[in-house]
Amino acid sequence: MGRVFVAGSINMDVVATADRHPRVGETVAGKQVLYFPGGKGANQAVAAARLGAATTLIGRLGKDSFGAELRTFLGDQGIELSYVQETTDAHTGTAIITVADADNTIVVIPGSNALLSADDVGVVPLVKGDVAVSQFEIPLPAIAAFFQRARAASATTLLNPAPAQSISGELLALVDILVLNETELGFLANVELSESDETARIIDVARQLQAREDQAICVTLGRRGVLALAGREQIVVQGRAVKAVDTTGAGDCFVGALAAQLAEGAALRAALAFANAAASISVQRMGAGPSMPTAAEVAAVLKNG
Ligand code: RIB
Ligand code: NA
Repeated sequence: MGRVFVAGSINMDVVATADRHPRVGETVAGKQVLYFPGGKGANQAVAAARLGAATTLIGRLGKDSFGAELRTFLGDQGIELSYVQETTDAHTGTAIITVADADNTIVVIPGSNALLSADDVGVVPLVKGDVAVSQFEIPLPAIAAFFQRARAASATTLLNPAPAQSISGELLALVDILVLNETELGFLANVELSESDETARIIDVARQLQAREDQAICVTLGRRGVLALAGREQIVVQGRAVKAVDTTGAGDCFVGALAAQLAEGAALRAALAFANAAASISVQRMGAGPSMPTAAEVAAVLKNG
């Protein structure tokens, strides 16, 4: 069994709940303010660890109370944290989130996450069978160094290019498995994609983006499931109808679960179905990090069809 290594962001999510989102310039009365461990990297590591994968997180915290709380939470999940450094040069990453009607808006202030360097990730002891995971909330040179090291060790690289920003052909070529939603796919491929786009169109755009013949591009479609182009093969995973209360971190749950499955040696199709079921559980709970399911919870969902 391989290990999951996640190089990524760690944030405190400051969440305001309200009946509806304010319009620009408007003030609405909220219901609650909640503090949840978040950050795409940390969320993905929590998902992988809760699902049973031996998991290491590489990241940066500030030397402040949010940083201390986040370290305690992540340690309690069994995540190996010896590559999570603290800095006095910036505050711990913070996300200001509004949740209304299960939908969110997020403003992320990177803080300490922006200080993760190529040197920090260059020392990570990856070996064959491991899965190296990253996203776009840490500097791109750190991601590139991490993936170069992973590929040199014959580990699998998994990139979740969120939030979307342009990616160089060089970095894209280092990716074995790309996991993204429709909006991110449209952005990276430089085409307009919308909710109503058909399977064939999405696969077509994924094919345009594919940087290597053996690269897998997995497109998460929310309640419509998952579409993947793996080499030449197409994989369709049906969506699951659930009542969402908070979708924050659902994509991260998917990525962490997929990484955990691949580290266990699962085939891509089965791993995608598992990850889809895991994400459907996470949306039924408030918060990002704390909403990640256990392996037993996912098994129960899969058993019920
Ligand atoms: O993907 C969800 C995450 O994005 C939140 O936890 C927030 O911290 C932002 O990074
Ligand atoms: Na959630």
